Amino acid sequence: MFVHVVTLLCVLGAQAVELHRVGHTTSTVARPAPVVQCVCSSIPNQTLCSWAEPPQATPLHYIATYSERQRQAETRPCVLIPPGDPHSQLNVTLPPSARELWHCHLPEMKLLTDYIMNVTAVYPGGSSSHLSTFMMEDIVKPDAPESMQVSCLNPGTVLVQWEPPSTWAHRDIFPLKYELLYQWRSRGQIRSNHLKSFPDSRTSLKGFARGRTYQLQVCAKDALGLGHCSDWSAPVNITLPL
Ligand SMILES: *[C@@H]1O[C@H](CO)[C@@H](O)[C@H](O)[C@H]1NC(C)=O
Ligand SMILES: *[C@@H]1O[C@H](CO)[C@@H](O)[C@H](O)[C@H]1NC(C)=O
Ligand SMILES: *[C@@H]1O[C@H](CO)[C@@H](O)[C@H](O)[C@H]1NC(C)=O
Ligand SMILES: *[C@@H]1O[C@H](CO)[C@@H](O)[C@H](O)[C@H]1NC(C)=O
Repeated sequence: MFVHVVTLLCVLGAQAVELHRVGHTTSTVARPAPVVQCVCSSIPNQTLCSWAEPPQATPLHYIATYSERQRQAETRPCVLIPPGDPHSQLNVTLPPSARELWHCHLPEMKLLTDYIMNVTAVYPGGSSSHLSTFMMEDIVKPDAPESMQVSCLNPGTVLVQWEPPSTWAHRDIFPLKYELLYQWRSRGQIRSNHLKSFPDSRTSLKGFARGRTYQLQVCAKDALGLGHCSDWSAPVNITLPL
């Protein structure tokens, strides 16, 4: 029996995710463990983990489970969603780039709780597990806001409004706030302004130059400061009248 263990500490901004890969094989052929990433697109019940089929290896199947770190004996199934599964009873919409990936859904999670996620690729004659630990707070990432509209209120002032991401289910309990980014060209250079804390999905901004074109984008984050803002909406341009 050949056992190898790899421990990585991966620091992304303020977020630290510990990854362990543990392979158990009965031959000397390495059986790659899947590389798993988890994202919570709506607190508390919309966490998805995803991984690509390992290169040059075709597992027979996967076993995905999770448990609280304090109660590792109580594992729960992470519900598997095969690649390309077009309809899903889970009501999750996957972006086209994610159609090639395996996913699994963690039906229920608690705040302020350490979890251990175990995704095991089962091969003929062996298996290989990827273990990761995280708290839901570390992986909260709301989808981008939708339907952004920009209009000119009066010379120099624009009104920006948008809809919260429709995948964020419980805004009453877990409100969102927003960041705005706008960019413009000045003497051939791209200039930008990043504004960080809008509680509402509508705001007016001053100081815009007449005749100039601005490109605006908005991003959502959890209002309690959990997680981070990373999914920007499609850009919208406005040209101010002269
Ligand atoms: C999360 O899922 C659990 C189990 O299905 C359910 O009891 C709970 O009400 C859900 N929480 C929210 C906020 O929807
Ligand atoms: C999925 O969405 C439909 C319609 O919005 C709803 O009726 C159904 O209960 C949802 N299913 C789950 C598992 O949340
Ligand atoms: C991960 O899951 C596999 C398959 O269920 C199991 O054999 C293995 O012991 C688990 N690893 C840990 C550390 O719990
Ligand atoms: C939108 O505005 C940006 C910044 O001024 C510019 O670089 C970009 O080409 C514009 N896009 C369109 C479609 O006009």
